[in-house]
Amino acid sequence: MNQDRIYPSESAHSPYLCPPEMQNEDLFKKVVSHCKEYGFVFPSSEIYDGLAAVYDYGQNGVELRNNLRQYWWKSMTQLHTNILGLDAAIFMHPKTWKASGHVDGFSDPMIDNKDSKKRYRADVLLEEHQEKLRAKADKEVEKARARFGDSFDEAMYRQTNPRVVEYLNAIDHIDQTLKTGLESGNLDIIRDLILELGIVCPVSGSKNWTDVRQFNLMYSTQMSAVESGEDSLYLRPETAQGIFVNFLNVQKTGRAKIPFGIAQTGKAFRNEIVARQFIMRMKEFEQMEMQFFCKPGTELEWYAYWKQARLKWHLALGTNPAAYRYHDHVKLAHYANAAVDIEFEFPFGFKEVEGIHSRTDFDLNRHEEFSGKKLRYFDSETNESYVPYVVETSIGLDRMFLLTLCNAYTEEQVDNEVRTVLKLHPALAPVKAAILPLAKKDGLPEIAEKIYNDLRFDFNLYIEDKDSIGKRYRRMDAIGTPFCITVDYDSAANEDVTLRYRDTMEQKRVKIAELRDMLQSETSMASLLRGLV
Ligand code: GAP
Repeated sequence: MNQDRIYPSESAHSPYLCPPEMQNEDLFKKVVSHCKEYGFVFPSSEIYDGLAAVYDYGQNGVELRNNLRQYWWKSMTQLHTNILGLDAAIFMHPKTWKASGHVDGFSDPMIDNKDSKKRYRADVLLEEHQEKLRAKADKEVEKARARFGDSFDEAMYRQTNPRVVEYLNAIDHIDQTLKTGLESGNLDIIRDLILELGIVCPVSGSKNWTDVRQFNLMYSTQMSAVESGEDSLYLRPETAQGIFVNFLNVQKTGRAKIPFGIAQTGKAFRNEIVARQFIMRMKEFEQMEMQFFCKPGTELEWYAYWKQARLKWHLALGTNPAAYRYHDHVKLAHYANAAVDIEFEFPFGFKEVEGIHSRTDFDLNRHEEFSGKKLRYFDSETNESYVPYVVETSIGLDRMFLLTLCNAYTEEQVDNEVRTVLKLHPALAPVKAAILPLAKKDGLPEIAEKIYNDLRFDFNLYIEDKDSIGKRYRRMDAIGTPFCITVDYDSAANEDVTLRYRDTMEQKRVKIAELRDMLQSETSMASLLRGLV
C-alpha cells in the first residue's frame, strides 16, 4: 500500500507569491473581494445597493469572528482569576454620556469640499499631509544612506540636513496648530492651516473648502414611541461605560478584591462621517474591552503589564512581530496618564487595532458626580474607601478580523496555477476539517458520513462529495480549513484516511480512530491559550 499517495499532484510548492511580490493595494483589494466570494463579509442590505460603512458577516465570517471573540474572552476571563465578565445593555441612561464626556466632546472636526460635495475629517486631511512630508524626509534619509554607506549617522542627518529639518518642522507645525485649534475651539485656525498647506480635495482637486465644523459621532433615538425630546437615548459609542456603571455590582456580587478587571464584548455605534477601508472604520462595530481596577499609585505598573500582555496575545497567533508596533501617545487626553496604541501594518499602512489607556479615576469620579451614588471600593485590610484607578484595554473585533485576513491571505504558485490559501491559525479557522470521500460511490460517502457524525460534536466540520478532489481542496484552502480528510478505496479495509495539511499540502495516512485526538491537539482554543501563560 502506498502510504504517501497524493490526490492530485500538488508537489510543486513554491514560496509565497504574496505578500512580498503583491502590491499592497492589490492585496487589500484581493482580501476585500475574497471576503465577499467566500462568505466572510457582505455589504449590508446589498440588494438595496448596500449601506455605507455597514457590513454583514457570512457563514465563514461569523465563525472566524466568534473564534476571535472567544480567544479574547477566554484569555481574559478564563486565564485570569481576577477578571470577571459582563454583558451590559446597549441602551444606557442618557446621563451616562453626559458624565463620560461623549455628549460634549465626542466629535470630529469636519470640512466639506464645495466642488466635489465630499466631506472629510479635517484632522485626517492634515495627518495625510504629514504622512507625505514624513515620506519625503525618509526618502532623503535613504538617499543619504546609500551615498555614505556604513559611516552614515541617521540621527545626526535628521537633525542637520536642511531639507529633512524643513520637513520635520512642517510636521511639528501641523501638530501644534491642530492642537491649538482643537483645544481653543477656534476651528478657523484648522481651516486656515488646510488652506496654507494647499491641501486639495482628492476628488475634485480644488481648494474650495467650507468652514470646519464639529459633528458629534453618537446616534440618538427615543425611549418611548412618542418623540418628546426629553427621552432621547444614545446608541453606545463604546462598551466601556457599561463596565464603569456596573463596577460595584460586579465587585460586590463577585466578591472581587482590587486589583481586578471586568471584561465585556459587544456592539458599539459611531456616526463615522468618513468611513473608509472596508471594515476598518464602521458605523456599527464590535468592541472587546476590559477595565482593570487598581489601587491609585499602582496604575502605571498595571499599564506596563497590560501593554506587554496584549501584544503577547496578538503574537501568540503566529503573526510576524515586525508587522506590529506600539504607538505611545505623546499628547494625552486630560483624564489619562499614559496611553498607547497597538498598531498593525495593514496593506494601507500601520493603523491602530487596540488601545491601552491608563484612565486614572476620571470615569468613576464623573459617574459619582452625575449619579450622586458612591462608586468606591472598600479595602477591608486597610479600612479605607477609595475610587480605584483604571487601566483599559480596548480592541475592535472587526479590525482584528481584518488584520487576521490580511495576515492570512496568501497566493502560491502550484503546478502552473495560483493557489489562494488563508493561513489562519487552526484555532481561528471557521472549519476545522473537511471530510471528503474520493468518489460518490462504493461505500466511500457512507464512511465519510460516519466520521463526520462521530466528530461533529467536537468540531465544526464540512463534508462534501461534489467535484474533483483537487477542486475541493482548493475551496477548503480558500476558507482556511487546516485539514482535509480524504476517504478512499483503502479506508474501509485499513480503517484509515489521508490527512492533508493546508499550509504544506503534505499528506499522510492516519487511522480513523486517531482523528479526534489529532484535531483536538491541532485546532483547539486551549492550545492557543496555552501560549499565553
Ligand atoms: N473605550 C475606549 C475606546 O472606545 P477607541 O480607540 O475609540 O477607544 C477602541 O476604540 C478600538 O475600537 C479601536 O482600537 C478600534 O480597534 C475599534 N474601533 C473604534 N472605532 C471603530 C470603527 N468606527 N469601526 C471599527 N472599529 C473601531
